[in-house]
Amino acid sequence: MQLTELPTWQALKQHFEEISGLHMRDLFAADSERFARFSLQLDDLLLDYSKNRITDETLALLQDLARERDVTGWRDRMFAGETINVSEQRAVLHIALRNRSGQPIRVGGEDVMPGVREVLAQMRDFVGSVRSGEWRGFAGDEITDVVNIGIGGSHLGPEMVCEALRPYGHARIGVHFVSNVDGTDIREVLRRVQPESVLFVVASKTFTTQETLTNAHTAREWLLDYYGDEKAVARHFVAVSTNAEAVHDFGIDTANMFAFWDWVGGRYSLWSAIGLPIALYIGMDAFEDLLAGAHQMDEHFRSAPPEQNMPMILALLGVWYINFFGAETQAILPYDQYLHRFPAYFQQGDMESNGKHVDREGRIVSWKTGPVVWGEPGTNGQHAFYQLIHQGTRLIPCDFIAPAVSHNPVGTHHDILLSNFLAQPEALMRGRTLDEVRAELRGQGLDEDEVERLAPHKVMQGNRPSNALLLRQITPHSLGLLIALYEHKIFVQGVIWGIDSFDQWGVELGKQLAKVILPELEGDAPVDSHDASTNGLIAYYKRLRAG
Ligand code: F6P
Repeated sequence: MQLTELPTWQALKQHFEEISGLHMRDLFAADSERFARFSLQLDDLLLDYSKNRITDETLALLQDLARERDVTGWRDRMFAGETINVSEQRAVLHIALRNRSGQPIRVGGEDVMPGVREVLAQMRDFVGSVRSGEWRGFAGDEITDVVNIGIGGSHLGPEMVCEALRPYGHARIGVHFVSNVDGTDIREVLRRVQPESVLFVVASKTFTTQETLTNAHTAREWLLDYYGDEKAVARHFVAVSTNAEAVHDFGIDTANMFAFWDWVGGRYSLWSAIGLPIALYIGMDAFEDLLAGAHQMDEHFRSAPPEQNMPMILALLGVWYINFFGAETQAILPYDQYLHRFPAYFQQGDMESNGKHVDREGRIVSWKTGPVVWGEPGTNGQHAFYQLIHQGTRLIPCDFIAPAVSHNPVGTHHDILLSNFLAQPEALMRGRTLDEVRAELRGQGLDEDEVERLAPHKVMQGNRPSNALLLRQITPHSLGLLIALYEHKIFVQGVIWGIDSFDQWGVELGKQLAKVILPELEGDAPVDSHDASTNGLIAYYKRLRAG
């Protein structure tokens, strides 16, 4: 039966009609226990989901839907290493990369854990020698800068985590990220590093990605221009890939390669050797704390009852807004400057996973799937786009995330930050009624005409949903918890929608067409093999380029 034909879907539609007019203000007024009932805690991570347009019945119906879609069955299949990435015929086992239980995890009968442990040990050796200064550049210098060359899943995770965990970074070692094929990206980074003390990490699951290989070749030429000796490459380049042959062809000794496996999706790979820049920066012990945090969330996801299961709750709330309220987007708003790349990371995590229009069997779906995910750190976003969230015509579910303890306790900064973290969801939920606005304006001494002129502009409807995630401090462990929470949320939503969350065919066509166009850009000859628009743009580009 199609998703939208299921009895629970129909019941949810009916329920939506009944409760969409309810205001959260009234729900809070009627129930002093609402926070206690609609919040969950795991370790020191608190999820408050009470400021959502839900009742007990909503949650019960959403849980019925999860049962009908067999979310727990699919979850168990993922943990058991079954081929749940159906279009690519692969298992999905990022959970194995952070499995601290000592239990085997098998793919096709073979335990993957010895391989995982082996690569972790290889990483530990290498990370130790670079950080201690034992590993030297070709001219005998200690490494001071790590440059990760990779894109998408081979970039966003390591970058986000390195930024988030800056307070744990090595005093001598800086990390840099080159992803864009725009020559500006690599040029700007090469300006900031020295050939004697740089270590390039070429990170690519496939080792065929045009952007990454182009940047890696440019970095290699830059290094060889300086040294004039091929042997320098071995001291300044390592690779992270599943493709040993392509790494070898590039000229990197496979002894300097860190492997991972096809059952690790690119956007779920920071837990693998793709996390090497993270480990080089924060150390292997801290990297393993990150894994342990994620493992704790995995265990929670695997064993907590659905009603107390954080990823399930977050996922079901998302489904409620996307499929019943028609929400198109999801905002992620961290109140922590170190988390400034967290929204961008989950923009890929969510949109590449659940941006699908066919179900696992290849049939076009008639329901909305993954949302547009976006966000910026608070309080900056407040002075930029929150206006639309508060008073615009769209419903935008928001996740607010904050640590209670800052790594930089400066005066009253953190209380000011947190007062905003607390005030925004409150304002979104409560809003401000016409009567309240009028009273305020009269209190300011405005005459009645002025009050009536101004009042409608200042009304805030409220009833705008949000979740608040509050934890003690951003540490490797708590960050691991947080990332895994969102990963599993995405998984649950994919199961509800019946899609394959682990392929990404949508990015292929653009790649293929770019390969066709690239040789056509050589020389001045006119190009007429495309549609009129593309031909016209190529011609105009060539004209501008010629000067
Ligand atoms: O273009 C999408 C994508 O395939 C992502 O899924 C992936 O993370 C990225 O490209 C980079 O791929 P690779 O690690 O193979 O270079």
